[in-house]
Amino acid sequence: MTYYIGVDIGTSGTKTVLFDVKGAVIASATEEYPLYQPQNGYAEQMPQDWANVALHTMAAVMQKSGVSKEDVKGIGLSGQMHGLVMLDQNGEVIRPSIIWCDQRTAKECEEITARVGAERLIEITANPALTGFTASKILWVRNNEPENYAKCAHILLPKDYIRYILTGEFATEVSDASGMQLLDIPNRCWSDEVLEKLDIDKNLLGKVYESPEITGTLTAQAAAQTGLCEGTPVVGGAGDNAAAAIGTGVAEDGKAFTTIGTSGVVFAHSSNISIDPKGRVHTFCCAVPGCWHVMGVTQGAGLSLKWFRDNFCDAEKQTAKSMGVDEYYLMDKEAEKSPIGANRLLYLPYLMGERTPHLDSNARGVFFGLSAIHEKRDMLRAVMEGVTYSLRDCLEVFKEMNITVNDMMACGGGGSSPLWRQMLADLYTCPIQTLASKEGPALGVAILAMVGTGAYASVPEACRAILSTDKTCQPNAEAVPVYEQYYQLYRKIYPALKDCYTDLAAL
Ligand code: XUL
Repeated sequence: MTYYIGVDIGTSGTKTVLFDVKGAVIASATEEYPLYQPQNGYAEQMPQDWANVALHTMAAVMQKSGVSKEDVKGIGLSGQMHGLVMLDQNGEVIRPSIIWCDQRTAKECEEITARVGAERLIEITANPALTGFTASKILWVRNNEPENYAKCAHILLPKDYIRYILTGEFATEVSDASGMQLLDIPNRCWSDEVLEKLDIDKNLLGKVYESPEITGTLTAQAAAQTGLCEGTPVVGGAGDNAAAAIGTGVAEDGKAFTTIGTSGVVFAHSSNISIDPKGRVHTFCCAVPGCWHVMGVTQGAGLSLKWFRDNFCDAEKQTAKSMGVDEYYLMDKEAEKSPIGANRLLYLPYLMGERTPHLDSNARGVFFGLSAIHEKRDMLRAVMEGVTYSLRDCLEVFKEMNITVNDMMACGGGGSSPLWRQMLADLYTCPIQTLASKEGPALGVAILAMVGTGAYASVPEACRAILSTDKTCQPNAEAVPVYEQYYQLYRKIYPALKDCYTDLAAL
C-alpha cells in the first residue's frame, strides 16, 4: 500500500492527515496557533508558528500510524489564501504575515485600481481590487514600512512558506496564486502588465506550477524533523477552497459545492473561463490543470447563526449541555417549528458587510417584518433562511455567467444540519448531497499528491475512484414556490436600503 500526506494550514490551526491511496484516513493530527489583532481590522499570524505546527503534525501522523516512511509517496499542501509572507535574502521572515481577513488596505485598493484601471484589473485578475487579496497587502508594507519592503527578497503565500521550509523551493501554484491579484487568470501565469503597473519586481515571486505538479522534494533537514524520507515529493497543492473542491469531488463541469462555515461559499467548477464583469464572484484557476472555478462568498453565514446563539440562546445552550447534545441540533429543532417564511419574517445576513453580490462593506444585518406575533423560533428560522437566500444570490450570478450546476454538495458546519440542507435544496431547486469523507481540503491535496506522483492519471479520475456520496436531500415540490416568493421579496430589500447603509456608516 502507498500513503500520502495532506497538510491544511488554516486560520485557527493546521490539520495534517495521512491517507492511503484509496483515501482512507490512517492518522490525523491538529494543532492551533494564535491570531494577532494589533488594531481594529488588522489580522496577523506568525509564519514560524505555521512551520512549527506543520512539521510537528507531520511527525505526529507518522508516529501514530506506524506506516513505514518509504511507503509515503507524496505530500500536498493546502491553506488559508491571500496571506502575505515576506522573507529576506537569507530566507528569514521579515514581519508577521498580514492574513486574508485583514482589512487595513482600503487606500492601497484605490491605488491598485488607479494604477491598473478598474476594467483592465478585472480582465486580467478576474477580480476588482479587494482588501483581502495579497497585492494590496504588499503595497501597504511598501507605503507604511519601507524599511521592511527594502529587505524583502521573496513573497510567498502561507502554504508556500511551508513548501519553502520543507523543500527549500520558492514556488506556488495557480489556485492560491489566483488570490494574490498578480496572476493573469486566463493565462495562468504572473501578469507582467499588473506587476509593472504596480511596480512590483517579478523576481520576488515564486515559480507558478499547476496544482498536481511536483514542486520540489523534502530536504534532509525536513525529513529528519518529520520522520519522512529525504526526497519525498511535494506537489503544488491548492488554496483552501480549491482543495476542498477536490476533496468533495468538485472537479468536473456541472459539479459545485456550498459550504456554510463562518462565511458561506458557493463554488462551481468550470472548464471554460468565465469572469463576472461586475466582479461579484471570484474567478480563480482551479486545482484541475487547465480549468477554473467561480466562487461566491457570503460573509456572515454560520457567523449569523453563531451571533444569534451567543446573544439569544442561553436557554438552548443549557438544555443542550444537560442533554449531552449539540446546541445547534436543538436550535434546528426550534427553527423547524416555525413555517417556511418564518411567519413573514426575513433576515439579511450582512453582519460583516457583503461580498457576493453587493460588494458593500457598509451593508449590515436586518430583520424585516418583525411583529408582535414573532417568537425566537421565527427569528432563528429567518436567520437560516436569510443565509440561504444570500447563497442563492451567488447561484443567480453563476446563471448570468452561464455556469451550469447539476450536482451540489453541502459541507462545513451548516452542511451537517438537515434543515439547512433542505432549505438549500428548495431554494436551489436541485438535490443536495453530502459526502462520506469529511476531510475536505487535506484529502483534496492528498489526492493532488496521488495524481502528481502517478497513482492516478487525472484529478477527476482520482476523485471518482476515491470519493462516495453519503446522503441526498431532494427539493420539496410544495416548498419550492413558497420559498421563491420570499426570495423575490428578499432581493428587493438590499437595493431599498443601500443609501441608508451609506448614511449609517457615515454617522
Ligand atoms: C477565500 C477566503 C478564505 C480564505 C481563508 O477568498 O478569503 O476562504 O482562504 O480560509
